[in-house]
This record gives sequence, structure tokens and C-alpha cells, in this order.
Amino acid sequence: MEKLKVGMIGAGFLGHFQSVAMEQVRNMELAGITSLQGAEELSASARKRNLGPATVYSNVTELAKNVDAVAIYCPNYTRIAIMEEIVAAVKAGAALKGIICEKPLGRNVAEAKRLVELGKEAGVPTAYFENQLQMKPIQVQLKQLAPQQRTMGPLTLTRSSEEHGGPHEGWFWDPTRQGGGVLCDMGCHSIAVGWYALTPIGKPLTFLQPQSVTCDLGLLKWGIPFWREKLLKDRGVDYSKTPAEDFATGMFTYKNPETGQIVKAQFTNSWMFEKQGLRLFMDGMGPGYAFEVNTLISPLSVFIGDAAAEAVADQEAALEKATASRGLLAVQHNEADLYGYTDENMDAANCFLQGKDAFLNLEYGLEITKLVMAAYMAHEKGKTIDLTDPNVQKELETYVPAIQQGKGADVLPMM
Ligand SMILES: NC(=O)c1ccc[n+]([C@@H]2O[C@H](COP(=O)([O-])OP(=O)(O)OC[C@H]3O[C@@H](n4cnc5c(N)ncnc54)[C@H](O)[C@@H]3O)[C@@H](O)[C@H]2O)c1
Repeated sequence: MEKLKVGMIGAGFLGHFQSVAMEQVRNMELAGITSLQGAEELSASARKRNLGPATVYSNVTELAKNVDAVAIYCPNYTRIAIMEEIVAAVKAGAALKGIICEKPLGRNVAEAKRLVELGKEAGVPTAYFENQLQMKPIQVQLKQLAPQQRTMGPLTLTRSSEEHGGPHEGWFWDPTRQGGGVLCDMGCHSIAVGWYALTPIGKPLTFLQPQSVTCDLGLLKWGIPFWREKLLKDRGVDYSKTPAEDFATGMFTYKNPETGQIVKAQFTNSWMFEKQGLRLFMDGMGPGYAFEVNTLISPLSVFIGDAAAEAVADQEAALEKATASRGLLAVQHNEADLYGYTDENMDAANCFLQGKDAFLNLEYGLEITKLVMAAYMAHEKGKTIDLTDPNVQKELETYVPAIQQGKGADVLPMM
């Protein structure tokens, strides 16, 4: 069997998670890794698991020369420089079959557009990794409810959320490096999966036309002095100076261009979620039918009493961003598969080996960036944004949210 030899750029939290997903993909191997930090550790772990040679390279150029596909798993603020290095390597002869880029494609529309242009310059197939569209629960409900969609009509409302207690590295909290707060970091997932789940079966990803968006952002927990100081101490980010939102909610309205039907997708994201750990929640309503996904419901739970709590080595082994280590705990035994990482890797391997773009390509990532930026604009202007207005579309091309510029204090009231 032909295997896609993947080279990872970045060996942090996501690199490790994706390596677990790769264990479940038959036609992919971890051929190489380059990273500012952590490459040796990931390589040793990957070799132990027989994922491939996982050779450590000193830079992107060397990596690109020795693999079939590169996967950008490093921080958001490094995207363009990394992609430029990849393009230069391809021009110098690296025979890549594909380029994978993690969400979010860019921190704003101008950056995302540049990424798309660079992808075109490289002239190789691309994959935009938005794992939630690939989640088996989402894909299975679509199949299961296809007859209902056909007879009763498509879904009219989706509600999507991703929430946890806050990211694991300082750069995520810094709006100038990450792109914003939770809306940029996780809103991109919920906005994408909400749009996708609403889309009538068999229609293209961008079939439903965005009409308008409303959005409300808040700094509800990490702006309170006690938590602000903790954030400064633990992560080195000062929300009294450069705050970002820890709560985001809003509503997109879409139009079916064939029937004129109006449908809606609500999104909610937070870094102030006080439950067991990461929760993805999605539901959708069609006439006479519905679906619901809640990743905190697991067939496996464990109980750890106070007397045994000291023995807990790593509660994150139970659940991403776990916040408790005793009591009755939900355990997800295969998070890489549950969240869609396995399926996105499988899809990228199959598509790249056939010489084509993955299910989601960089152009799709640009569409999602536009929607995320429009949501920031709605909050900043305090009004519904008309996405059918050509002037709004033009404004979005160069729009950089105040929060991303480090001026969040102007738009996020704080104690
Ligand atoms: N799909 C998801 O749900 C999901 C989850 C987590 C992260 N992500 C995305 O994945 C990306 C990485 O996030 P993470 O959580 O792994 O971050 P991280 O900070 O844990 O790891 C980043 C890694 O990149 C390396 N790095 C930093 N700058 C680099 C550079 N210039 N060149 C090469 N390597 C560099 C670091 O040394 C580190 O190994 C981000 O874009 C993030 O948004 C997606």
C-alpha cells in the first residue's frame, strides 16, 4: 500500500494529538518533524509507536525535501513565514504532494488570502484542517437523517459550541499573536460546523449564502482581577492592557439560493467553561427531526474518591483540557477519533495520493476566516453586519479587529 509520508512543522500539543490520530490511518506515516521545540520528544514517541522514521530536520526546507506532504502545526503568527519557506522549497525542487494547514487559516482576511495565494504558488493540493466537519457523529447523523431531509426538507437551525477553561500556552491568550480570543481560536470551528450541518445534503460546502451576522463578545472570567492576575502570572499575558474575549456568541443567517429559504446557525464559544473539560456540543433542527452531539457524554466514566486523588497522574489523559481529577469523571477513550482528527488525516492521505485537494482546502479556510472576521466586526460596531453588501465585503478584506490590534480594552468592558 502506498503511504503518504508526512512531515510535521510544530511538535506541540496539536502535533502530539495528530500523531495519535495517525496511528489510526493505514496509508500515512510520520516521516519527519521540524519544530522550534519538542521535535526530539515527539520523534521518540512516534518511533516507539511505529508511526514512521519521524526524522528530525533542522528547518522547513530540509523537511520538505524529504517528505510527501507537510503539515503546519505551529502557532498562528508563524503561518505566512512558514508557508513562504514551503513555497521556496517547492520551487527549489521539493516534490510535495500536498500541504496541510491547521485552523485558523489566518488571523484576518488579508493573512488568509495570502495563505491561499502561496498555496497556489506552490501548485500542490492543499488541506485546511477543520476537524469538526470530519467528526463521525456529524457525518453519521447526516447519513442517518438523509431520508428525513429528502422528505421533510433541510435543517433550519443549527447550534454549535466548543468550550473549555482556557488554552494551554501563553501565545493563545495574546490576541496580537493568536488573532483574538476564543472567537478566533474556537469560533472558527463552531461557525464552520454550523454552516456545514445546515447545508442540504449533496450541495457544495459554500452553497448556503451568508446573509448577515450578529455577535456579542465578553470578557466574563479572565477580566476579573483575581483571574487576570493569575493569567499574567501563569501565562505572561496582561489582560489589563491587551485583553481578549473569553466568551463569544452570535448568529449567522444563510439563504438557500435555489428555494430562497432562510436558515440560521448559532455559535457559542468560551474559555470560561467550568465543567469537566472540553465540550463540543452541536444540535440541529429540521422539520420533524433533529440531531444532537455532546462530547462530554461518554460510555466510560471513572470515579476517584478524595482518598485516592493524590494518585492521579494526568487527568488530561481522560479528556482534553480536563479541569478535575476526582469525583465521577468522564473519560473519552479515543479523542483523536471523536474530534475528527483521524478522519481528516485519512481524507488528506487519500486525496493527496490521488493528486487532489482534500475535502476542505485553503480556499474554504479563507471563507471561514471571512465569517469569523465579520463576527468580530458585528461586535465592534454593535450592529448586524449585512454580508450581502459589497462595501462590507470590501471592508472585510483589510479589517483587523481592535482586539487583534491589542486594543481590546476599547471594546471589552472589564472590572
Ligand atoms: N483543531 C484543533 O482543535 C486544534 C487544537 C489545538 C491547536 N490547533 C491549532 O494548531 C496550531 C498549533 O497549536 P498547538 O496547540 O500545537 O500549539 P503549541 O504552542 O502547543 O505548539 C506549537 C509548536 O510549534 C513550534 N513552533 C513555534 N514556532 C515555530 C516556528 N516558527 N517554526 C517551527 N516550529 C515552531 C513550537 O516549538 C511547538 O512545538 C495552532 O494554529 C492552533 O490553532 C488546532
